Formats: sequence, structure tokens, C-alpha cells
Amino acid sequence: MSSRPFAPEADIAQYLVQQAPYYVPVHQEVELFETAYANQLPVMLKGPTGCGKSRFVQYMAHRLKRPLITVACHEDVTASDLVGRYLLHPLTDARRILPIEKKAELLEAGKEFMLVISYNPGYQSVVKELKQSTKQRFIAVDFDYPPPDVEARIIQHESGVSAETAAALVKIGEKVRHLKQHGLEEGVSTRLLVYAGALIQRGIPPHSACEAAIARPLTDDLEIQRSIRELVSAVL
Ligand SMILES: Nc1ncnc2c1ncn2[C@@H]1O[C@H](COP(=O)(O)OP(=O)(O)OP(=O)(O)O)[C@@H](O)[C@H]1O
Ligand SMILES: [Mg+2]
Repeated sequence: MSSRPFAPEADIAQYLVQQAPYYVPVHQEVELFETAYANQLPVMLKGPTGCGKSRFVQYMAHRLKRPLITVACHEDVTASDLVGRYLLHPLTDARRILPIEKKAELLEAGKEFMLVISYNPGYQSVVKELKQSTKQRFIAVDFDYPPPDVEARIIQHESGVSAETAAALVKIGEKVRHLKQHGLEEGVSTRLLVYAGALIQRGIPPHSACEAAIARPLTDDLEIQRSIRELVSAVL
């Protein structure tokens, strides 16, 4: 097998994150990620959809001045869709190499290379199907919806709504998340609360905005939609 460095700087410069992404740290995730990076350890981010995992990676890529190359995976993505037939394990442990059998090539990861995977333990079963021998090659960081004061700041920043409206959306979010025990597959994401804020900010009446950005996207169940509508009315 021939061997060459993973990617020449010229090719990857286009993937640099130019502007600092807005990200509010929630726990020790920044320190943990930086330490993992410094020690060449791969990282796995776990948490519900729309709670800040991708934004965090963009923020870290900018902070570490590293290009960010993202591959969206789903149930039907196979290893060969990515790089032909490949073996992941040697890339995720101390060997840090990617054998590409079709090309009889052995790519070596540079010392700045970092592999980060992100998944939703609820229903996106990508990692559920990974073997223990794969999972146990990563440092794991748990993500969840930010605490209320932080989530309000985020909604305000991202959508431009007032502090008061942001606080109301956070309250709606908390109540809707409690519906998870009553048949809702997943709580409302920070992303959807930001969307609701964006609609309100652009003049959509708050009730309609919450209908469009919260109740309808979350569920097809008319009963649960009605419960959400009641929660929204109780807060607004
Ligand atoms: N800590 C945070 N700081 C700044 N923005 C945040 C934060 N958490 C969430 N957000 C907001 O929530 C939105 C959705 O977050 P993001 O796209 O990172 O979700 P995700 O966890 O990657 O979701 P998925 O699992 O569906 O990929 C972001 O675009 C951003 O507006
Ligand atoms: Mg994401």
C-alpha cells in the first residue's frame, strides 16, 4: 500500500470556519474538547436534535483554527458511500490511519486531525448500531437543552426577539418537554424555539408562530397538538 498525508493544506483551507460562530458554553464542553484535541482523542457528542451539537463543533473548529468537514449520515449511509470500502477502527485509535482498499492506499491522519461524531440517542440509531469496539474509542460529551437563562439568551440572539418574548418561549419549551412522558417522541428543540422567535420577530402573531414552529413540526397526533396549543395559550 502507498502512503501519503491525509489532506494537503491547500485543499482543506476552503473548509476553515471564517467567522466566529455564536456559541454559549453550557458545561465544561469547551475544555473537554480542547483537551481531547490536544491529545488526539476522537470525540462523540450525544444529545437530542437541535440542542447545539453542530454549532458547538463549528465554534470549536473556529477556535482551534481547523477546517471543518462535515458528513451527514443516516441509516442508509454505508461505509462505502464515504470512501469506498474502508475500515474505521484504525482511524479512531492510536494508529490514526485510514486504509482505502480500492485504491490500495493508506492515508495517515495529521496530528491536527480530529474525528468527531454527533448523534441523537433517542431515535437516530447510527451509534446504537455501532459495536462496543467502535463506541469505546471515543470520549463522550453529553448535550441537552441549555438551562432556561442560557436558552433565553440564545433565542434572543438568534431571532432578535425581546428578552420577554424569549423568556416566554423558554417557558413554552419547558412545558412542551414535559409532554414527552405523554406520548411525544422528543421534546421541542432549541432550534424550533429559535424558529418560533424568528416568525414572531417578522410579524407573525405569537400563537400562529408557535403553531407553525412548535406544535405542527413536533407531532402529527392531533390530540398532542391540542395539548401543545393549550400550553402555549397558558404562557402567552
Ligand atoms: N449553546 C448554544 N449556543 C448558541 N446557540 C445554540 C446553543 N444551543 C443551541 N443553539 C441554537 O440551536 C440551533 C440548533 O443547534 P444545532 O444545529 O447545533 O443542533 P444539533 O444538536 O446539531 O442538532 P441535530 O442533532 O439535529 O444535528 C443552533 O442553530 C443555534 O441557533
Ligand atoms: Mg447537528
